[in-house]
Parts: sequence; structure tokens; C-alpha cells
Amino acid sequence: MKIGVVNGSPRKRGSASENIIGALRERLGKAPEYALCSAMSQSGREIVSALLGCDALIFVFPLYVDGVPSHLLRFLEESQGQISGAVPAAVVYAVVNNGFYEPAQNILAVNTLKSFCVKSGLKWGQGVCAGGGGMIGARRIGRSPLKNLGMALDALAENVLQLKTAEDRLVKPDISRFFYLCAASVSMMFHMVKNRL
Ligand SMILES: Cc1cc2nc3c(=O)[nH]c(=O)nc-3n(C[C@H](O)[C@H](O)[C@H](O)COP(=O)(O)O)c2cc1C
Repeated sequence: MKIGVVNGSPRKRGSASENIIGALRERLGKAPEYALCSAMSQSGREIVSALLGCDALIFVFPLYVDGVPSHLLRFLEESQGQISGAVPAAVVYAVVNNGFYEPAQNILAVNTLKSFCVKSGLKWGQGVCAGGGGMIGARRIGRSPLKNLGMALDALAENVLQLKTAEDRLVKPDISRFFYLCAASVSMMFHMVKNRL
């Protein structure tokens, strides 16, 4: 089995998307062959040729202004005519994370990926919408406050390995919105003070 993973974060290192990809790969195991791509640092042509022959494609990216980041959107628009030739039988999955607490904000971005599937003739698999992206990277996925995300990725990995379709999932951090906002405010103040010194 060959799995293509497209990281759609513009951040080169330490992004929440990178952490999600790491956690997903732990769950998918060593047996599959991977094509790991970056929509930020590779051209559309490079990505499509790396994805050649994949059985599953997983797009992992942040929410930007309630949508798909522009460089990833460009890739989706430019490749929709040719990607089905490279991966005719691929099932497409997406994990979108956002900075606010509410995962439902990511639904529009997941719908953009579904529309990409319709236009390019690929099969849609499942979308995972993860709120509380500010904590991803600061904590291990699978442990509190990212237990819910860990469980959603467990289920997603199973679906990917069996090329199954499933309902989209909305994943909240397993702390309250109040504590998430407190932690985000403290972290923002810390960064402001640090940058002034
Ligand atoms: C330009 C920009 C736009 C953003 N727009 C949103 C948004 O509309 N809603 C939201 O909840 N978070 C938004 N965020 C926050 C990111 O989605 C969040 O920080 C995410 O965890 C970053 O993921 P990454 O580290 O994988 O890039 C935005 C961040 C940036 C830099």
C-alpha cells in the first residue's frame, strides 16, 4: 500500500500539521510506503509525480481565514485535471486544524477538499476537523488535552489502512473552552514579553 501525505502548512518546522502527520504515521505503522510532500516547498508537478500510484491521499493543513491556505488551494486548482491520471483509485482524507477552540470552523475547508475530489474524479474518504491547534506540538497527541485528537487519528488510520469512507469528525480539545482561552492568552503574553526583551 502506498500512502501520500501532503503537508499544507506554510511553516517549515514545528507546525501543528507536522505533529499530526507524525502521530498519524505512528498509527499507520511501518508497512505502508509513504510519499511525504509539502505544498509549501514543492511545486505541483513535483507533488503529483511523488504521489504517483498512491492508494490513499491525506491532506493535513491549517485553517487560514476560514479556508484552505492559498498555496495549497493553488495546488488543488492546478492539479485537479491531472491528479486522477496519477492516482486513479486513490481515496482522499483530510485533517484540518485551526487556532480557535471550535472545530466546526474547519468544515468549509473540508468541503473544499470534497469539491476537489468531485472535480478530479477521486473518492472522498473522511475529514477530521481539529480545534485547539495552539496546543498541538506543545503536548503529545493521545495524551490530555489531546486525547480526543489521538482517538480520532486512531480511527482515521484504521479507515485509511482499509481505504474505508466514514463520517467526518469534529474534535475538540479535552479541556474546556475557558481553560483553552486562558492558556492561549498566557502564551500570547509570554511571546509578547519575550519579543520585547
Ligand atoms: C494567516 C492566518 C490565518 C488564520 N486563520 C484562522 C481562522 O480563520 N480560524 C482559526 O481558527 N485559526 C486561524 N489561524 C490559526 C491557524 O489555523 C492555527 O495556528 C494552526 O494551528 C496552524 O497550524 P500549522 O502549525 O499546521 O500551520 C490562522 C493563522 C494564520 C497565520
